[in-house]
Order: sequence, then structure tokens, then C-alpha cells
Amino acid sequence: MTVEGYHPEKYADLLVVGGTVLTPNGSEQADLACRDGRIVALGCLQGQWDAVSTIDARGLHILPGVIDSQVHFREPGLTHKEDLETGTRGAVLGGVTGVFEMPNTNPLTLWHEDLQAKLDAAQGRAWCDYAFYIGGSGVNAKQLQILETLPGCAGVKVFMGSSFGDLLADDDTVLRNILRHGRRRMAVHAEDEARLRQRKSIVEASGDVCQHPDWRDMESALLATKRIVAMAEEAGRRLHVLHVSTAEEMRYLAGHKRRVTVEVTPHHLTMAAPECYQRLGSLAQMNPPVREQRHQDALWQAIREGTVDVIGSDHAPHTLEEKAKPYPQSPSGMTGVQTLLPVMLDHVHNGRLTLQRLVDLTSAGPARIFGLEGKGRIALGYDADLTIVDLSAQRTITNDWIASRSGWTPYDGKKITGWPIHTVIRGHVVVREEQLEGAPRGKTIQFLETFGAISASD
Ligand code: DOR
Repeated sequence: MTVEGYHPEKYADLLVVGGTVLTPNGSEQADLACRDGRIVALGCLQGQWDAVSTIDARGLHILPGVIDSQVHFREPGLTHKEDLETGTRGAVLGGVTGVFEMPNTNPLTLWHEDLQAKLDAAQGRAWCDYAFYIGGSGVNAKQLQILETLPGCAGVKVFMGSSFGDLLADDDTVLRNILRHGRRRMAVHAEDEARLRQRKSIVEASGDVCQHPDWRDMESALLATKRIVAMAEEAGRRLHVLHVSTAEEMRYLAGHKRRVTVEVTPHHLTMAAPECYQRLGSLAQMNPPVREQRHQDALWQAIREGTVDVIGSDHAPHTLEEKAKPYPQSPSGMTGVQTLLPVMLDHVHNGRLTLQRLVDLTSAGPARIFGLEGKGRIALGYDADLTIVDLSAQRTITNDWIASRSGWTPYDGKKITGWPIHTVIRGHVVVREEQLEGAPRGKTIQFLETFGAISASD
């Protein structure tokens, strides 16, 4: 086998040997050398290179680091649910090496100082690399073109329908204003606020969580998605529709792929109504809702057809006490960052998608659509972010394993085949043999479209 990368000194900080590497060209048996945070050689290196640290990856698959482009880590203001340390700890234990965090904290992330406060709080406490979304709203619309270029900003996120927190932009004039002020791909939670308000009486009367998908129905999602896609087209702006949950939206979005990228979540791909509500009650309550099987089938079909670009977890923790409030006072949201990869590996095991397609959705996809510098693939010169998995390991997901401060997962008791074993961030092993190692080393993720961004390398 040829060796990629010329280094006469043959010295690495980390060697990963004997594994199967998922490269942009497919999977191959290869060793991998990492130095100064980057991948410096690929090929048959064992016995020829010295290294400070080695991972024996025989029998394991080495994926480019998994990027979860939608998490809510609740800091500042709601740290009884989660904080940046616990959230990112869950991430790396689940094989995730980078996250984009959402702006519906308290205070909301609307201004430079809010973003800076998150960047400061993450320093020395984040286990994985990170970037933060700025919320788009009527109050900051005209400043967004500056705000979205700040180092550490993942872009602009808009809530068209209220979900959790006070961030809302449902008015067409405000939305057009937001779309006009910026160039980066804008992320949107598409549920139609007016229709949600009209229909809320359905669940206020019944108090039945099984009706969550009736209140926030398919039409609420489709209406909002069509509105924002039309406005984005008018403004010439690229759009990212988060957590698409319906067959009808997927059919519509398939015809708009030039401008629009699409996310699906593991919970929409794994659970179905009414069974999940009967079994889990408000623990399955999430916005947009988990819907009937025909929608789940359509999401899988969209993955097969290439309509879906990324899988994001929408990790949205609330405490069990908060979830126990009578529906619909119970807050919507469930944990997901730590279970994203195990749940998806189980789908790989069951033949729902290939490992290569999964890598496309969790590493290459986010890098491609958000313009990440140096991440998303295993190739020379790229950041040495590695998610090393055992495709045949059998585990059971339990609440005990969950690092989130909220302490629970909707998958408690679920048997999984395929599990993250080691997590490497820029050449640093942060999870070895499923156990945390060392100290938090997360850094700001760098984007191609921001100016003067801080480098993620040490
Ligand atoms: O169910 C949800 N909860 N959906 C979202 O998009 C937001 C989230 C939250 O922040 O709790």
C-alpha cells in the first residue's frame, strides 16, 4: 500500500493503526498519523513511525469526526437542564467531535456580547469543538450581516414557530428583512406560528400528548417551509431547513435543492406516532413532532434519494421534573447529542443506510453546506478529528450512560449494534475505550465565510 504524506522524520503525536478508514474515496485498511492537530500520513505506517500515543484500531472503523449541527446546551440561563461542559461531554462520549449550538438560551444569543459570552464560557470547558448560532429577530435584523461573520458564529437561526424560549420571527416583513441582511446559509425552524396558535385549543382541551402531532400538524410545517423557501428565493439567500418531519415537505424540498439544504433528526427516523407517545408520554414530545410511520418512511426515502444533507440531533434537554408537568405545559425537547451516532449505527447495522452514506450526512455534509475549514473528511492536512467505532459492538443505551445534566434519554433500554469506542479531537484522544481521557480541549470551529476566525488548532 502506498503512503500518502512525505515526512522524513516519521514522528507523530498520535498513530491510529490497523483500522478501516472511511476516506472520501471509500473505505480502506490504513494506519493514520496525526501531528500538531492534523492528519499528516495515511497508509502502512506501523513499525516505521514513532508516536507519543497509539490507538490499536484493529477490527474498528475510523470515521471523520461526527459534527452535530443542531444542539441546545442551555448556557447561559438554563444550566439546571444542561451546560457547555455536560453537553459537550455527552457529545464526545457519543463520538461527536464538533457542535453548532442554538441561540434560545437566556439571554438569547442576539448580539456580539451574547456570542462572546458563550465563547468565553466554552473556553477550557468544552470537550469538543464548537460554534454558536446568532438568533435572527426583528430587533437585530439589520445588524445580522455583521454578526454572522463574527468568529465562532455558525450562522443565523430563525424560529418561525415558537418552540422553547422567546425567540420568534413569524412576520413576513421581519423574515424578509432578516433574509436580506446576510449572505451565509440561514437555518430555520419552520412551523407556522399563526396556525399553531389557532390549533393549540385542540390539546388544551384534551391534555393528551398523543395529539401533539395533531396540534402541530403536517400543514403547519409545510406552510412555513413553503413560505420561507419562497422568501429565500426572492432574496437570493441560501437556506437550511432544520428537522424536516413530513413527507409533504420532503416532496416539496426535493424540487428546491439548488437553494435549500435539509436536516433530519435521529428521533424522526427512529420513532413513530402514536406508539412513541403511548410508551414515553411527554418524553417523546418534541417540535416539530414525531409523526406517523408514513412520514418516517418518507424521511428514509429522502435519505436514499439524496434530498437530505445532514443529520442533526436537535439535542434539547429538559429535566424529568419539567417533563412531568401535565401536557401541554410540559416543555418540548429530548436529549440526543450522545445517542445520535449509536442510534444511526444501529440503523446501519439493520441495513437502512450504508456507513459511507452516514459519514456523508454526519461529517462531509455539514462541512460542505456550512463551509467548515479543515473538517469533515479524513485526508492529509485536515484536522485529526476521528470517531472510531466498533460496528459489531452490542450495547444497551441507558439513562446512567447519559452525561446530560437532565439525565435521561428517550432510548433508555434500547439495544444497539455499533458503538463509538474512541473519540479524537485534533489529534487529542478525549475518549479512549469508551472512557473520558484528559481535559476539555474544545476550540472554536473555523468557517470559510467568516473573517479573521480563530483557528481551531492548538
Ligand atoms: O422541541 C424542541 N425543543 N424543538 C426545538 O426546536 C427547540 C427545543 C428546545 O430548545 O427545547
